[in-house]
Amino acid sequence: MFHWLEKHPFFFAVGVFVTIAFAGLIEILPNFAQQSRPVIGTAPYSTLELAGRHVYIKNSCNACHSQLVRPFKSETDRYGHYSLSGEYAYDRPFLWGSKRTGPDLMRVGNYRTTDWHENHMKDPASVVPGSIMPAYRWMFANSADIETAFAEQLTIAQFFSVPYNQPVPMRDGSSAVVKMGGSVSDAKALALEEAKAVAADMKDQDVKDAVARGEIPEIVALIAYLNSLK
Ligand code: HEC
Repeated sequence: MFHWLEKHPFFFAVGVFVTIAFAGLIEILPNFAQQSRPVIGTAPYSTLELAGRHVYIKNSCNACHSQLVRPFKSETDRYGHYSLSGEYAYDRPFLWGSKRTGPDLMRVGNYRTTDWHENHMKDPASVVPGSIMPAYRWMFANSADIETAFAEQLTIAQFFSVPYNQPVPMRDGSSAVVKMGGSVSDAKALALEEAKAVAADMKDQDVKDAVARGEIPEIVALIAYLNSLK
């Protein structure tokens, strides 16, 4: 049988395809079950958080940081509960990452704060002596792209039924509503409101002044995103 297959490359290829497709189905199918998406407590990203996620991708943070806690004691002790597939229901694209030059960031919102991130992004070694992470000072001056974040929200709300402006269940039994504006100017107003809350915990005067003027520096959006990783 196998000798025969080895001599008939076409049928060999078909056999390989069928075997891999079957194994793939066994891995993928359970994820379509209702329980696996989205996990209770997982809310869609707000406009500001989504803009921060774009900053994260644009600066290739995922080249050094994973967002996937594996089910090993060494990892759950350090980062918290291992990742569940339903927690990624609103992640497009996934930022699992394949390399950990720095620590995993899946749940960094549980143990780092706005002011910690502010100091760390400006000068990592000032917070973590000997850190080899680069500084990202330009994020304090560049403006976040709220228009693109809003355009993405419109698309995902329409094509993937992401539940904006609807209650989503939280872990404590309550529900939360993530608002999405009806127009670009609405979206900007909502993002600015959220940005003010983040900037209130920051100490960089230029950032505070910018937010008071109605601008949203990239660092504010990025920190909103990092705080949402829980
Ligand atoms: C060249 C690799 C590299 C890149 C790129 C990088 N980091 Fe890091 N990061 C590290 C290393 C190494 C550490 C551990 C030392 C430290 O805390 O500074 C770290 C630590 C962190 C921490 C602290 C996590 C914890 O649990 O203490 C955060 C948050 C973080 N990085 C966010 C970012 C963000 C956001 C970006 C993109 C703007 C980024 N990093 C880009 C290497 C990198």
